[in-house]
Amino acid sequence: MSTSSTPTTTLDPDSARQGYDRDRLVRVAVLGVGMMGQDHARRLATLTAGAELVAVSDVDVARTDAVAQEFGVRAIHDPRAAVTDPEVDALVIATPGFTHEDLVLLALDAGKPVLCEKPLTTSPETSRRIVEREAELGRQLVQVGFMRRFDAGYQQLRALIASGDHGAPLFLHCAHRNATTPPNFNSEQLMLDSVVHEVDVTRYLTGEEVVAIRVIAPRSTAQAPEGLRDPQFVIMETESGILVDVEIFVNTTFGYEVRTELVAERGQARIGLPEGMVTQSAQGWGGSIPKDFKERFGAAYDTEFQRWIDAVRNGTNVDGPGVWDGYAAAAVCAAGVRSLRTGERVEVDLGPRP
Ligand SMILES: NC(=O)c1ccc[n+]([C@@H]2O[C@H](COP(=O)([O-])OP(=O)(O)OC[C@H]3O[C@@H](n4cnc5c(N)ncnc54)[C@H](O)[C@@H]3O)[C@@H](O)[C@H]2O)c1
Repeated sequence: MSTSSTPTTTLDPDSARQGYDRDRLVRVAVLGVGMMGQDHARRLATLTAGAELVAVSDVDVARTDAVAQEFGVRAIHDPRAAVTDPEVDALVIATPGFTHEDLVLLALDAGKPVLCEKPLTTSPETSRRIVEREAELGRQLVQVGFMRRFDAGYQQLRALIASGDHGAPLFLHCAHRNATTPPNFNSEQLMLDSVVHEVDVTRYLTGEEVVAIRVIAPRSTAQAPEGLRDPQFVIMETESGILVDVEIFVNTTFGYEVRTELVAERGQARIGLPEGMVTQSAQGWGGSIPKDFKERFGAAYDTEFQRWIDAVRNGTNVDGPGVWDGYAAAAVCAAGVRSLRTGERVEVDLGPRP
């Protein structure tokens, strides 16, 4: 693994690997090769410059073998063994959230860089343990997969806020809409799996922590499975008093949509509106709506991975959200789950940052 100069980032698949010395590619193992892990394995194998996918590992042995065969890489049946394998330089963790603490702590002990899918862990207490362990090590090793920070729209909106051209931000109005949910999706997962992204986006755009949250569950759609509180309406307050509302609606039946509107003192801005070609014909007028997050944020995932690998190559290991961001999101989401249960506004206290 190289710790020398950072090569120029390129995402053109035809030229992506030019200029990278094969002997100095970062050898990456992907842990958990379900939906996200397979997508990331493909990204590493075909697109990310400076990376070499060398192994996959999943508790589902048949799946591990099938994905390993597809990419022509090693199948490692024990995910913990994959973390400590001497032929593996860096890890992508795409297992379910409840497994992240164990695997991330093991990777920290092994001194290996990690890109861990969100959530960092499923509770503030366990995320805090990772924050403290990394602080003890004295160097950053863990990046958290909040890919929206690599989306061009969010980057533009953040730059606009930082420029001050529109004055101070007052409101963020967010909508997060999904076509359908997987089987057994429960009401708390709207917060833990979906709104977690809006929590991170709020912190990324405003540069402020979230200090309070309230979740309101209005009448549910008949399109949601029995018992699922969908949609929900979330209100967050930041340190300076910016109000952020999120409509989270995960059984819209027709497509995927994530949009954010900024209202500031002297101007407004919107991102995430349907874009691209608009057609006009006897069938009517209109464009298309992304079917899922992989389509909507495909370019963001590509950029996230390229910048992560470049950071691993140049020895900084993290170029994006780190463990504190994962911890803060976990703390706000835990407060949101409490609010969903009680209907109360819940304050968030992150405690001191190590
Ligand atoms: N950033 C995003 O937009 C985004 C989107 C979807 C999912 N995710 C996150 O990605 C992660 C994976 O989600 P998914 O939808 O791919 O789930 P999935 O269920 O499709 O895949 C998870 C895989 O992990 C395997 N697994 C379970 N326990 C394991 C363990 N201890 N060690 C190794 N493998 C194990 C399972 O067998 C399965 O193959 C989750 O943390 C999820 O929140 C992120």
